[in-house]
Formats: sequence, structure tokens, C-alpha cells
Amino acid sequence: MSDITLKVNGRTHTLDIDPSTPLLYILRNDLGLLGPRFGCGLGQCGACTVIIKGAAVRSCITPTSTVQGAEITTLEGLAQDGTLHPIQQAWIDEQALQCGFCQNGQIMNAKALLDRNPDPTDAEIREGMVGNLCRCMTYYRIQAAIKRAANVISAARSASGKEVVG
Ligand code: FES
Ligand code: FES
Repeated sequence: MSDITLKVNGRTHTLDIDPSTPLLYILRNDLGLLGPRFGCGLGQCGACTVIIKGAAVRSCITPTSTVQGAEITTLEGLAQDGTLHPIQQAWIDEQALQCGFCQNGQIMNAKALLDRNPDPTDAEIREGMVGNLCRCMTYYRIQAAIKRAANVISAARSASGKEVVG
């Protein structure tokens, strides 16, 4: 056990933990952040996706010691001041989910995708989202939600002349 400092959703936490513990367990069990979910535990489904330093990361296979001090964002960190992130709103507007289990990870991967490519083609969305599995086969609705979110974010940026979403 040793002290590990984590920056999650803008807050700093110092925890006395086994540094080799997967980040997913720390987020869920120690910090009470249930956005990232346990699906396979093997890095193969994407349910546990969080964003670390701008990249979508599988938290179930990420030793917590390797992300000490890095900016970590979970689903809980997307909404600002009670307002859903445009990606979350687009998910609702497109009714993207069915059972919902995979969708938190899908949203986080979509966030990382749109941050690096604000206007993806359908092919780029499919390529960017390919590792996030949905056993309910909601892929077309997810794709529609990402397109909608991209349009909303683009319009907001045009209206304000600056970046308006994190
Ligand atoms: S739970 Fe992490 S990739 Fe499946
Ligand atoms: S909505 Fe059920 S697994 Fe994706």
C-alpha cells in the first residue's frame, strides 16, 4: 500500500491503495464514481472507458500507479453546472441506448473522438468507436448521436467564436 494522488473530474484525491490496482476499481469502489463500468475486465469491451490526458483509456487494465497526477475524466465529469454535455444530450435525443450497460463507455469514447476530430465522417465514427462493444447492437443510433453532437458543438462554437465545451 502507498499514497497515490489522482486528479479526477477536476478534484484531487490522495488514497492509500495498492498501486497496481486497476484504475476502474479505485474509481468505482474508493471514489464512488459508477460511470465507468465493469464489463469484461480484460480491455476488450470498452464499458470502463475514461479519458486520460485527452485519450480514451480502458480503466480495467490500467494500473492506478501509471496515471498518478494525470487528468482523469469519467462520465460524471462531463456535465457542467447541471447542464448535460452536448454528447449526453445527443444520446438522449437520439435514444441511443437500449439496456444501457455499454453506453457510459460509448459516450466517453465519443467524447475523445470528437475532441480530436470535431467533424468525423460516418466511416471515421465507425473506426473511432470500433472497440466499444454493444450487445444490444445500438451502433447506428450511437453513430447518429455522435453526428448530432458534432453538429451541436460546431454550431455552439460558431455562435460564440470560441470553444464552449470541455
Ligand atoms: S471492462 Fe474494461 S474493456 Fe471491458
Ligand atoms: S445498450 Fe445494451 S449493451 Fe449497449
